[in-house]
Amino acid sequence: MITRILTIDENSLKLSKKIIDGGGAVAFPTETVYGLGANAFDDNAVKNIFTVKGRPNDNPLIVHVHKDYDITNLVTEIPDYAVKLAQAYLPGPLTMVYKSKGKVSSAVSCGLDTLAVRVPEHEGAQKFLKYVRLPIAAPSANISKHVSPVTAEHVYADLNGRIEVILDGGKCSGGIESTVLDCTGEVPAILRSGLITREMISEIAGDCLVYTPKNGEQVRSPGMKYKHYSPNCETMLFEFGEFEKALIAYDKYANNNIKVCLLCDARTCGLSGSRECLNLGDNGKDIASNLYYKLREGEEKFQIIIAVAPEIDDGIMAGVMNRLTKACRNQ
Ligand code: TXA
Ligand code: MG
Repeated sequence: MITRILTIDENSLKLSKKIIDGGGAVAFPTETVYGLGANAFDDNAVKNIFTVKGRPNDNPLIVHVHKDYDITNLVTEIPDYAVKLAQAYLPGPLTMVYKSKGKVSSAVSCGLDTLAVRVPEHEGAQKFLKYVRLPIAAPSANISKHVSPVTAEHVYADLNGRIEVILDGGKCSGGIESTVLDCTGEVPAILRSGLITREMISEIAGDCLVYTPKNGEQVRSPGMKYKHYSPNCETMLFEFGEFEKALIAYDKYANNNIKVCLLCDARTCGLSGSRECLNLGDNGKDIASNLYYKLREGEEKFQIIIAVAPEIDDGIMAGVMNRLTKACRNQ
């Protein structure tokens, strides 16, 4: 199969609809990362997504809908706090989990009685969703466990030959995946941290829990148990206070002619002298936006990435550190 990267226009949208209606998958941009979408009502189309990505079949997908779509077609028991949160933050990088009406393919939620719904803000995503006129089940458009894609070229690098069309919406501005919020309880609970922070949710909903699986408990957001976001090269992660140790490790590799780089915030980069450095930026928003882009750049150019945790302390960093820790986990 030949994979084409296409700008988003009438022709590419028409072709995308044809592929989706025929049970295929199309990659499309969102404000967080690129998604790999299929008709959420079509069993085979949804199962095909798992095959294309090599995704474990117990890790459920998010359904993406157009901003004018009535989600009560798909879900029920929407609490007041969720209505308020949707008014405040949608369209945007917030995925909300509700009781499912069981209308979409059971493969979407891997047999769970809930459904994760997202209304992306990206203009390209909205155009795609409007054109296909269907709820679209979509995980991130990478090979399972690899770093999520934030450009059409990243999608191509992973899925070339496996899908027909990648709609090109430029570089995703958000840079890490949406916040996944469980809205089935009295109080909302964050299952995966992201760009909509706990503080932002509490401000509207009055309260917000952060879900951490207890020992032995079944994981509520199954994606949490897998290795994720990992570049195809060696990685190491140091705490911010361990900067000196990171430099010692760097120098040891460099002296052995191993291509090594640091991955750190702007200030730390400034302290690393003439060493190779991938600069994430100097604030939480930029660091999130650059994280996957720089991890992909690092795996292309280097044999080992030595990450140093950024010193920045704002709400978005919970999501960034969650991704960075998983990317550098050696299992
Ligand atoms: O920003 C995003 O959310 C991107 C773009 C493409 O929209 N999508 C994305 O999808 O990150 P994916 O498949 O890589 O991650 C989906 C996450 C997983 O952690 C999964 O376990 C969780 O959402 N999830 C999906 N359905 C769920 C459900 N019914 N209950 C709990 N967690 C769910
Ligand atoms: Mg993913």
